[in-house]
Amino acid sequence: MKETLLIIVAFYLVQFASAARIHFDNNSCKTYLDYFTRSVNKNCYHNDFLYLQTPQILDKRKIPYENHTVITEDGYILTVFRILKENPKDVIVMLHPIVQDSTSWFLGDNGSYVDRFLEAGYELWLLNFRGTTYSDKHIANLPPAQYWDFSFHEIGLYDFSAVFRYINNITNTKLIAFSFSLGSSASSVYASEKPEEAKQLIKLFIAMAVPDFLRDSKTLLRVLIPFVPLLKAITRILGIYAFFDNFRLITYLLTNIVLLFNLESLVALTAVPFVGGSFFSINPRLIPIGTSTTPEATSVKTLEHYVQLFDNKFLQFDYGRKKNLAVYGTEEPPKYRIENINVPFHIILGESDILANKKGILLLYSKLPDIAKTYGYFEVPGCSHADFLIGKTQPAIAQKHILELLEKFNA
Ligand SMILES: *[C@@H]1O[C@H](CO)[C@@H](O)[C@H](O)[C@H]1NC(C)=O
Ligand SMILES: *[C@@H]1O[C@H](CO)[C@@H](O)[C@H](O)[C@H]1NC(C)=O
Ligand SMILES: *[C@@H]1O[C@H](CO)[C@@H](O)[C@H](O)[C@H]1NC(C)=O
Ligand SMILES: *[C@@H]1O[C@H](CO)[C@@H](O)[C@H](O)[C@H]1NC(C)=O
Repeated sequence: MKETLLIIVAFYLVQFASAARIHFDNNSCKTYLDYFTRSVNKNCYHNDFLYLQTPQILDKRKIPYENHTVITEDGYILTVFRILKENPKDVIVMLHPIVQDSTSWFLGDNGSYVDRFLEAGYELWLLNFRGTTYSDKHIANLPPAQYWDFSFHEIGLYDFSAVFRYINNITNTKLIAFSFSLGSSASSVYASEKPEEAKQLIKLFIAMAVPDFLRDSKTLLRVLIPFVPLLKAITRILGIYAFFDNFRLITYLLTNIVLLFNLESLVALTAVPFVGGSFFSINPRLIPIGTSTTPEATSVKTLEHYVQLFDNKFLQFDYGRKKNLAVYGTEEPPKYRIENINVPFHIILGESDILANKKGILLLYSKLPDIAKTYGYFEVPGCSHADFLIGKTQPAIAQKHILELLEKFNA
């Protein structure tokens, strides 16, 4: 026992000494094991993009872009990055997942969604939702309790509406709205609640992993549900309205700890029960870069709203009977009117996604009107929730499918 402990300590001391000496130069490896010898291992290399977010990545890669500021109807000041293209085939607006920002679209090393779309000739607009690093201002300098009083509902209704109108006005073309996870929930809210506007501005929604109906989700997050009332009480008492706000320094430190102690496999192992798939479907190369840009801030209300979706009802935020009466005029919150969607709404699901699970997505699909189902749905084999962004092979499958669909759509 003592010897084992000693060996482990000695091992980490050596790791520590070598890591400190090489300043984490080799921070990306092909397998989990390679990380243990990354300073001399041929399967390892230095990934320049660790810790960087969208503008720095674009600067470093010398990809020309513009910053655009859009103010929503309810006063949030958003940053949208525009990557221009001469004679673009189409304009794609990219709508990111929870606890991330537009940087998530660069995950995937050399195989990111941004890379594939640019190669294929599309102009891209990368939205950063309210509350994230580049979109954390409000015209009225609201106190935290009011600033963070939003969920995917407001992101869909206000952020998307303002940004889609803004881009449409500049580009004079109908947009492709491409989303993942939270971005997909917000897309379904937008398309359901503003169907006329959506028809005017959007030609096609492509929504990956839509977590709208969660009863059959097997995510480990379920174990937290019984504690939600308690957690809610605690956050209220402590005045916590957001998680991971101003977290960059902590993220930086945690990423260094992961690299220093070769915890890449632990990070992947921890993620699996929450998002499904297998340890082996995640690309080990992308673990440090993923941890270096996650988490971004999210409102407590967004998480509360998601917890409510485990009832398998896609409803607006539930404040409790009394406040619902005041806010909505009914005891139960209104249903999102999925049947009103007026534009093709193409869903891409992951076969082994236990969060945005197949049953829930097929339930959503069954409720869509015919126009929304024009292009059916597509299932990525062996794909968990996280694999859409950091899988070994799954992103390429999704990307190939999307590009083919877009070609067909434009033919
Ligand atoms: C990174 O790994 C390579 C082997 O692929 C090795 O030659 C190089 O010395 C390593 N870099 C550093 C800074 O240790
Ligand atoms: C865009 O905004 C970011 C963040 O404020 C800044 O770092 C970057 O230099 C700006 N880029 C351009 C092209 O204006
Ligand atoms: C990046 O991807 C392209 C095409 O998929 C490939 O030809 C190239 O070798 C890759 N580069 C690296 C550094 O992996
Ligand atoms: C549309 O764009 C023009 C500039 O191209 C601008 O003057 C006008 O205010 C914009 N309208 C809206 C509704 O954003």
